[in-house]
Amino acid sequence: MLLYWVLFSLKPIENNADGSLDLNKVVAAIKADDFHFAKTKLLSLENTIGGKVLPLSYLKEARECVDKHNLALHLDGARVYNAAVKLGVDITEITQYFDSVSICLSKGLGAPVGSLLLGSKALIDKARRWRKVLGGGMRQAGMLAAAGQYALEHHVARLAEDHDNAAYLAEQLNTLAGFDTSTFQIDTNIVYANVAEHIDLKAVAHALKEQKMLFSPGKPLRLVTHLGVTKQDIDSFISALAAEI
Ligand SMILES: Cc1ncc(COP(=O)(O)O)c(C=O)c1O
Repeated sequence: MLLYWVLFSLKPIENNADGSLDLNKVVAAIKADDFHFAKTKLLSLENTIGGKVLPLSYLKEARECVDKHNLALHLDGARVYNAAVKLGVDITEITQYFDSVSICLSKGLGAPVGSLLLGSKALIDKARRWRKVLGGGMRQAGMLAAAGQYALEHHVARLAEDHDNAAYLAEQLNTLAGFDTSTFQIDTNIVYANVAEHIDLKAVAHALKEQKMLFSPGKPLRLVTHLGVTKQDIDSFISALAAEI
C-alpha cells in the first residue's frame, strides 16, 4: 500500500540552486487525469527557501504557469517578510501572485508562537473546519494573537539587521580555517557553511555548550540570525569556535 502511494502520489522535484523549482519539471510532473493517480491541484512555493529569496519575475512566471494548467498557487511564506525586506518591497508585491499564503510569526518575527493563513473567505472557512477536525481550536488565543500583532507591527523593518548580521557571521566564519560559505547563496538571515572533514563539530558543539552557546553540529553547518542574536553574540561565538577548532 505504502509503495503504491509513494509510486503514484509523490514525484519529488529537486530545487534549482537559487531555490526555485524548474517550471518545466513542474509541468511534467502534473498527473494525467486518471483515477489511478492523485489529482494535481496545487503548486506550493517556499519563499524564502533556505534563506534564499525567489525573484519577483519567477513568481510571475509561476503564476502564468499555474493559470495555464488550472492549478492553485500557495506560498509557504514562513519567512516571507525576510524576502520582502531583502527586496525592499511591500509584502503584497510578493503575495499578489498567490491564491493562499501562510506566514510564520515565530521565526524571524520573534513572536512566541503562531502562524497566519491568508486566502479567500471560502478557503479560510474550510481551513477553520479542518483546524477543528484536527483538534487545533483554541479559545484563549487572544494573548498569543496580541504577541503576533506586536511582532507584525514592530519586528518587520528590523529584519534587515538580521540580514546584516548573517552577512557579518558569514564573513567571520570564512576567516576560520575549515569553514567556507562561498558555495552558498546568503540572501537573508540563514547562513550555510561547508566544514572541513577533519573538524569534529560534535565535539566543538559540546565544548561550546559549556559556555552556554548552542548550535546544531550539521555538515553543512546551518546558522540563523534573529532578534535574539546581536553582533556581539556573533563575535563571542566566532571567538569560542576559533578556540575549539
Ligand atoms: C511551514 C514552514 N515552512 C518553511 C519552513 C522552513 O523554515 P527555514 O526557513 O527555517 O528553513 C518551516 C520550518 O519550520 C515551516 O514550518
